[in-house]
Amino acid sequence: MSQPTASGEHVLIFDTTLRDGEQCPGATMTFEEKLEVADLLDEMGVDIIEAGFPIASEGDFDAVSAIAKRVKRSVVAGLARAGLKDIDRCGEAVRHARRPRIHTFLSTSPIHMKFKLQKEPDEVLDMVRASVERARGYVEDVEWSAEDGTRTELDFLCRCVEIAIKAGATTINIPDTVGYTVPEEYFALFKTVRERVPNSDKAIFSVHCHNDLGMAVANSLAGVKAGARQVECTINGIGERAGNAALEEIVMAIRTRSDVLPFKTGVDTTMLTRASKLVAAATSFPVQYNKAIVGRNAFAHESGIHQDGMLKHTQTYEIMTPESVGVTKTSLVMGKHSGRNAFRTKLKELGYELGENALEDAFNRLKALADRKKVIYDEDIEALVDEEIATATDRIKVVAMIVIAGTSGPQSATLTLDIDGRHQTVQAAGNGPVDATFNAIHSLVPHTAVLELYQVHAVTEGTDAQAEVSVRLQENGRTTSAKAADPDTLVASAKAYVAALNKLMIKRERGAPAQRFVEPAGRLRGV
Ligand code: KIV
Ligand code: ZN
Repeated sequence: MSQPTASGEHVLIFDTTLRDGEQCPGATMTFEEKLEVADLLDEMGVDIIEAGFPIASEGDFDAVSAIAKRVKRSVVAGLARAGLKDIDRCGEAVRHARRPRIHTFLSTSPIHMKFKLQKEPDEVLDMVRASVERARGYVEDVEWSAEDGTRTELDFLCRCVEIAIKAGATTINIPDTVGYTVPEEYFALFKTVRERVPNSDKAIFSVHCHNDLGMAVANSLAGVKAGARQVECTINGIGERAGNAALEEIVMAIRTRSDVLPFKTGVDTTMLTRASKLVAAATSFPVQYNKAIVGRNAFAHESGIHQDGMLKHTQTYEIMTPESVGVTKTSLVMGKHSGRNAFRTKLKELGYELGENALEDAFNRLKALADRKKVIYDEDIEALVDEEIATATDRIKVVAMIVIAGTSGPQSATLTLDIDGRHQTVQAAGNGPVDATFNAIHSLVPHTAVLELYQVHAVTEGTDAQAEVSVRLQENGRTTSAKAADPDTLVASAKAYVAALNKLMIKRERGAPAQRFVEPAGRLRGV
């Protein structure tokens, strides 16, 4: 099948949730989760899916090649540094894709060339040529990126771009790797490079913006206005440091402000909410409540004045409809007496489609929850299903626990875990009930991971609301996050900790490299 073309007003959407998104501390996804995300992106109409960085680990290689084999419509890209081994590995990983792409990159800014690469500019130019030529030996669709492009000297950037296109690159990406640029500057950069590089008409130009100053989306759109026709972005804006430009914001800005942004994308916007939820569940990265487009409050009108206006005419305070991003008005109320079919329909309404086994498990958990909680809100069901998706293949599961808390310590926890199909029980004391619970887990599953984050919030209102606990663990520079919900905060805590451990074990097994920047770790006590 053909390479993507972006003529006129059409802007290609290049999703890098599975690569730049997954690369950020704690956002690791399992193999199965990656396939699920890739399937959804394909169905949603994303033009290019960057599936991973094949040389990074066996796990990354396997995920990229499995995604390459199953994706039906989208181009499947793998990332490679300029080294020939990287490119060969990437070529191998994407070779079964219907529409394969190799995305190769090299730093071009003075600071990166001097300190990171320790190369002279002429050596970098040679590497650009050699890497693109090598990639073209595998595929026709080759993207070349100038890492730290926005801090690169303009003349040198133009020379690199010209050489990359001459060597066969069909897409040229100029990333704002460090999230430093501003819209006017990024606009001028694209305009100048496109005008100055003699063969620029032979390639599609691409934007790739990080959000360190909160301008990733604005910068990306400025690049599009200057002629770029590919936007690299991630679901929920996840990514290195402050993240990447958020796909849902780019797509909805283009759709909602077509008067000033006369472009089109092929993304089915009614799938945005579902994609956001899936990625949040798979990565355990909660979506900020007031996040544009997909945040819980994005379409909520709380103040009296706003509610009054909305009742008179929705457009008084709404610039796009909830339905346009896949938020549907809820019609079915779930409870103790709800049947499987109603539950299945409710899940559909909320944007989930589960296989028969997962549906049965989720349904049983709904029933158990309904026995303990008077009103089941949509948020309760979302928390329950997210957990179901995230823990379906876990080796360790929480079976039962009894915790003794109160004013006279030490507090203690008796915990039973299912570890690879065998039940094991232990009792442990601690400085507070959470500490006791985590100590019990530690003695059943010895590990050296350090608890970096422990956070609790209520899923809904009321004293019987489910507690949602987020946990982040760090071991030898590898970080994993997980969350879990339960009406009992301590059960949610144990489940979240165990879920993070499960992810850590997968990371260990697949030999995922340690992350580059690790925050100082500290064991939480007395919680
Ligand atoms: O931010 C960046 O420069 C990147 C490149 C690898 C494209 O992610
Ligand atoms: Zn990036």
